[in-house]
Amino acid sequence: MIKAGIIGSSGYTGGELIRLLLNHAHVDIDFVYSTTRGGQKLTKVHQDLLGQTQMEFSNTVHQQIDIVFLCLGHGNSTQFLKDHPFSENTLIIDLSNDFRLQSDAKFHNEQFVYGLPELNRKKIQSSRLVANPGCFATAIQLALLPLAASGLLQDQVHINAVTGSTGAGIKPSATTHFSWRNNNASWYKPFTHQHLGEIGESLDSFGHDTGKLYFLPNRGNFARGILATAYTRYQGSLEDASKLYTDFFGNALFTHVTEEPIHLKQVVNTNNCHIHLHQYDDVLLVTSAIDNLLKGASGQAVQNMNLMFGFDEDEGLRLKATAF
Ligand SMILES: NC(=O)c1ccc[n+]([C@@H]2O[C@H](COP(=O)([O-])OP(=O)(O)OC[C@H]3O[C@@H](n4cnc5c(N)ncnc54)[C@H](OP(=O)(O)O)[C@@H]3O)[C@@H](O)[C@H]2O)c1
Repeated sequence: MIKAGIIGSSGYTGGELIRLLLNHAHVDIDFVYSTTRGGQKLTKVHQDLLGQTQMEFSNTVHQQIDIVFLCLGHGNSTQFLKDHPFSENTLIIDLSNDFRLQSDAKFHNEQFVYGLPELNRKKIQSSRLVANPGCFATAIQLALLPLAASGLLQDQVHINAVTGSTGAGIKPSATTHFSWRNNNASWYKPFTHQHLGEIGESLDSFGHDTGKLYFLPNRGNFARGILATAYTRYQGSLEDASKLYTDFFGNALFTHVTEEPIHLKQVVNTNNCHIHLHQYDDVLLVTSAIDNLLKGASGQAVQNMNLMFGFDEDEGLRLKATAF
């Protein structure tokens, strides 16, 4: 068994990580650190864990630990690691955007590896530091990587994605509290969302020109999940596109291409990404769906941990969608 620590544990991604790791065959949760909840039972905050654990939040960390997950708000991970240096043998997975971009990836004499297994499986397997991708970034990259890898993403790409309210974290805000979000819809950060940077770096990594990405994020009136659509000009047949995608994701345990139109409920509460292709004249429409807290965050973090330690990639992640 390996020992794991979780930082930022009273939030949504922290709560999901605890749930996943409690059910992981090779992990003991050693400490669950919280700046605000030290001494309280985990179930005081994460009521879904009632009956599964008697653990309490701690206000100290153990520096000799096999792996630590950082589930802090953006900008806080770097400072946390400065204030709490872990053993040089400790593996670190950061869920924020602090280390995702190449320009931010350096940490002391090491580099964080971008933790999208469908892109960087080998690098993740041999790395000590992993920057877990953003949730929109995961859904959109999985929709576009096969085209980018084949140099077929050179025209403009129009992307529209809708996310549930858990994407914005546990603290209620003007656009996440019930009376605003329920029966409502809106877009935000048109064409300038912060995930465009990491998406662009991944798409460009194949060495082909990538057309401009126009990304419109939307807030949906549901709690979990991201449904993303992306379309661009495409000259081949739908059969060619289908083969491109199924070949590209041939070894991916969690990313599945389907001929049936997709919807959110088939992926929520799983670590899966489902992808559907549709052709209209010379346009290819790619739809992808994920659970923002699982494949978009904590599930992908556990997948990365499994790769880093050589466990079965889907250990602790054999989850069934709620579906209906
Ligand atoms: N929500 C998603 O769908 C999602 C998806 C992908 C990535 N992410 C990223 O994962 C990270 C955690 O997201 P989350 O949704 O779990 O957020 P969250 O629900 O707001 O939880 C963040 C937790 O961080 C801790 N924290 C400590 N110091 C903090 C500070 N100065 N500012 C903010 N938080 C502080 C708090 O826990 P304690 O009180 O226990 O210390 C807080 O509950 C973020 O960087 C987020 O962008 C989130």
